[in-house]
Amino acid sequence: QPVYLRDYRPFGYHVDEVHLTFRLDPGATRVIARIRFSPNRDAPGPFVLDGEGLDLKWARIDGAAIYPEVTETSLTCEVPDAPFTWEAEVEIDPAANTALEGLYLSNGMFCTQCEAEGFRRITYYPDRPDVMAPFSVRIESDLPVMLSNGNPGAAGEGFAEWHDPWPKPAYLFALVAGDLVAYPDRFTTRSGRDVALNIWVRPGDEGKCAWGMEALKASMRWDEEVYGREYDLEVFNIVAVDDFNMGAMENKGLNIFNSSCVLASADTSTDADFERIEAIIAHEYFHNWTGNRITCRDWFQLCLKEGLTVFRDQQFTGDMRSHAVKRIDDAITLRARQFREDNGPLAHPVRPESFVEINNFYTATVYEKGAEVIGMLKRLVGDAAYSKALALYFDRHDGQACTIEDWLKVFEDTTGRDLSQFKHWYSQAGTPRLSVTEEWRDGVFHLHFEQHTPPTPGQPDKAPQVIPIAVGLLNPNGDEVLPTRVLEMTEAKQSFAFEGLATRPVASVLRDFSAPVILSQETDNATRALLMAHDTDPFNKWEAGRAFAKDLLCRMVTDGAPPESAYLDAVLAMLRDEGLDPAFRALALGLPSQDDLAQTLYERGHTPDPLAIHDAVETLVQAMAQHMQDTLPRILADMVQDGPFRPDAASAGKRSLGNAALALVSRLDGGKAAAAQFASADNMTQQLAALACLLTIGKGDAQARAFRDQWQHDRLVMNKWFGLQVARAAPDRAADIAEKLTRDPDFTWKNPNRFRAVFGSLSANAAGFHAPGGKGYGLLGDWLGKLDAVNPQTAARVSTAFETWRRYDADRQAQIRAVLETLAAKPDLSRDTAEMVQRMLEG
Ligand code: ARG
Ligand code: ZN
Repeated sequence: QPVYLRDYRPFGYHVDEVHLTFRLDPGATRVIARIRFSPNRDAPGPFVLDGEGLDLKWARIDGAAIYPEVTETSLTCEVPDAPFTWEAEVEIDPAANTALEGLYLSNGMFCTQCEAEGFRRITYYPDRPDVMAPFSVRIESDLPVMLSNGNPGAAGEGFAEWHDPWPKPAYLFALVAGDLVAYPDRFTTRSGRDVALNIWVRPGDEGKCAWGMEALKASMRWDEEVYGREYDLEVFNIVAVDDFNMGAMENKGLNIFNSSCVLASADTSTDADFERIEAIIAHEYFHNWTGNRITCRDWFQLCLKEGLTVFRDQQFTGDMRSHAVKRIDDAITLRARQFREDNGPLAHPVRPESFVEINNFYTATVYEKGAEVIGMLKRLVGDAAYSKALALYFDRHDGQACTIEDWLKVFEDTTGRDLSQFKHWYSQAGTPRLSVTEEWRDGVFHLHFEQHTPPTPGQPDKAPQVIPIAVGLLNPNGDEVLPTRVLEMTEAKQSFAFEGLATRPVASVLRDFSAPVILSQETDNATRALLMAHDTDPFNKWEAGRAFAKDLLCRMVTDGAPPESAYLDAVLAMLRDEGLDPAFRALALGLPSQDDLAQTLYERGHTPDPLAIHDAVETLVQAMAQHMQDTLPRILADMVQDGPFRPDAASAGKRSLGNAALALVSRLDGGKAAAAQFASADNMTQQLAALACLLTIGKGDAQARAFRDQWQHDRLVMNKWFGLQVARAAPDRAADIAEKLTRDPDFTWKNPNRFRAVFGSLSANAAGFHAPGGKGYGLLGDWLGKLDAVNPQTAARVSTAFETWRRYDADRQAQIRAVLETLAAKPDLSRDTAEMVQRMLEG
C-alpha cells in the first residue's frame, strides 16, 4: 500500500486544457468536465484517472459515449492514440463531506481543499502535481459570490466564469461560493500591473480584515524587492473559512484561509495572532512563485515548496520585526515540534522516500527542518551566491514541476560546489548530535567537534553531514576577539584552530542557530553568565541562558538540586538591561518546555517523570519571582503603554515583557495584579495573558466565566477559552477539565479548530496529559476514534500527541500502547490514522 519515491513515472498523457462546470447544490452538486488530453510521447503509459466518492453519470471521448471501468479510486478506458477530448459528468455531495477535503460546506459556504489529493473527490483527473494545465471554470448557483482561480470572466444572473491562464496542477484548484462580503484594496506591481485585492469573509467579519490586507500588500512588495518576484494575475483573492484542516492554502489567485489565520482585531486577537497572521498571509502569497509557478514533481518533493516558502516567510518576518527575536522563536518551535518528531517513531527525512497517506507528511520536518536546510545552504554559499542561485531557479524552472535534485543543481551550477554530501540533509532523518570540546595549547585555541546522528525508523546508520557552525570568540572580559565565522564541518570528527590570540578565549558556538542540531558543550556557570552578559550574537546570548536553565532543571529533577543563584542573577541582569529589546528580555525569562526537558532527561539516561519535571519548573519559576521581586514592579510599570492598541513589533514586545513579568508577579501577589489587568484590559493580548496567569496559579474561575460571557458570540475567541483552561490546568485536573469541556454545548468538535483547542492543549500540557492513571490518554484515544470517522486528516494529526510514548515508564507505556492498539483495531479506521498509529507502535 505505500507509495515509493523510486517508483516515480511520468503520466502517459498531457493535459492541454481543463474546462469545468459546477452546478452547485449542497447535497447533489454536478461537475461537468471537458478536458483536452494528448499522449505523452516521451513517456507512454496507461490512461488511468483518479477519482474517489464520485457518482459518474456519463462520459464521452470526442463526443462519443463510453463506459469506463470504475473502481473506488480510479477510472480506466480505451483512448485514441492522438489528442482527444474527454468529457464526464459526476455528482458529489458537499454537504456530507466532513473530511474537509475536496468540495465541502462550511457555514453554508461552498469551499475546496485540494492539496494534496482532494481534487480526485471533485472529478476524474490525473490528480498529481506534475500534470499542469490552464483551467477555465464556470460556476452556476444562486449564491451572491462565486470565485475560482485566475482572472474573472463573464458573470451574470446565477453564474460566474473564471479563467486561469497559468498552467497548474489540480491541487491548486479552488472554488468558493457563498454569502460573502469583500474587504477590497489594490496593489500596483513594480512593472505597473494593477491588481484588485480582496479578503472575503462572512458578513460581520469585515472589521477583522485590515491587518491581513496590510500584510498582503507588504508581502507583495517584499517579494518584489527581495526576490524580484512579481504577481501575475489581475486579482488576488483571500477567503476566510471556519472549517479548515490546516492553516491556509495557496490556491492560484484564490488563497483559502482557516479564519483563525486571517481575521484579526485588537479586541479579539493576541499579538501572537497578529504576527502569525502576517506570516501565514506572506507564506501563502510567496507560494505563488515557490509552489505555484514552480511546483513539485511528486509529493515526495513537498519540501521543495514548503521548506523554501517557510524560509522565505521567516526572512520576511525578520525584516518586518526583529531578526534576533524571530530566530529565537523559530528555534523554540523547531525544538518543540521538529526535534520531538525527529527523535521518535515518526521520524522521517525532509524528503521522505515512502508514504501511505501524504497528508501525514505535512510535518514539522518537511516544513521547519526543510526551511533550516535552506538556511544552511544560504549560510554555506553566502548571500550573493544564494541570490544568484534563486534567480537561476526561477529562470530555469518557471512553469515546471521540479525535484530537490533540480533545486540543488542551480546551486551547484552557480557556485561550482559539489552538494552531494549536503544532500544527506534531505535523505537522512534524525537530529544530528554535535559535541564540541575546547583546547588551549601553545597559544593556539582548538575546537574539536564530533557529530553523530542516532538511528531512526528504517535508517540504522547515518553518514556524516555538512554542518555549518557559526563561531565567535570572546575574551574572558567579554570583548569579542573573533567575529562570527562559519566553520564547515564535513567529517565525523573535525578540529579547527584559531591562532593569534593573547589569552584563552570563550567560544560562542552555533551562533544564530546555524544548524538544526543538538549541541553539547562542556562549560560552567561562569562561562554561561559571561555569554549571557556579553555575547554579541543575540541567539547565543539567549541560548546561553536557555542551556543553563535546562541543565539546572535536569539537576533539580534528578538530584533535587536547588535553583541556583548564578542562573537567577544572570537572568535578572538581562531583565534589567534596558539596552535590550523588551521582546528579547521576555524570551530570556522563558524556560525550556517540559516536553523538551523530558527528552533531555531521557537522553541523559533517565526515565522522565512528567510530574517531577513540572514540579521542578514550578520551583524554579517561584525562585525567579522571589529573586526578581524588586525589579518586577518597575518592569510592569515601564511596559505600560498609553493610547490605542497597536500591533507592531515594538508595542507587542513591550506587552510580551510586561506579561512575562506579570506571570512572575502572580506567584507573589496571589493574582492581584493579574486580576486588575484582566478587569481593565482593552485588548485580547492583555486580557488573555491575565487570565492565563490566574489559571496557572489555580485561580481565575470567575474571570473564565466572565470571559465566556463576553466572548460567547465569537468563535475564534471561544477557541482560546476552550484551549487556555486545558493548557493552564494543574496536572491532576487537566484531563477532567478537558472532559468537562467536551460536554460543553459549544464544543462543536467537528470543527478542527475547536477540537484542537481542547485536545491540542491537553497534549501540550505535558504533566496533565501524562498524569498518573492515564485518564488523558484514554480520553484522547476515545475522541480520536470518534473524530477519525468524520475527519481522518485532523484525527491523524492530533494523534501525534502519543509520539513520545517510548520515553516513559512501563505503566505509561502500557497505557498508551493499549490506547494505540484499541485505535488500530477499529474496523473502519482511516488510512490516515492507521498509518500514524502503526508507525507509532512499530517505530
Ligand atoms: N500548502 C499549504 C501550506 O503550506 C498546506 C496545505 C496542507 N494540506 C494538507 N492536505 N495537508 O500553506
Ligand atoms: Zn506552504
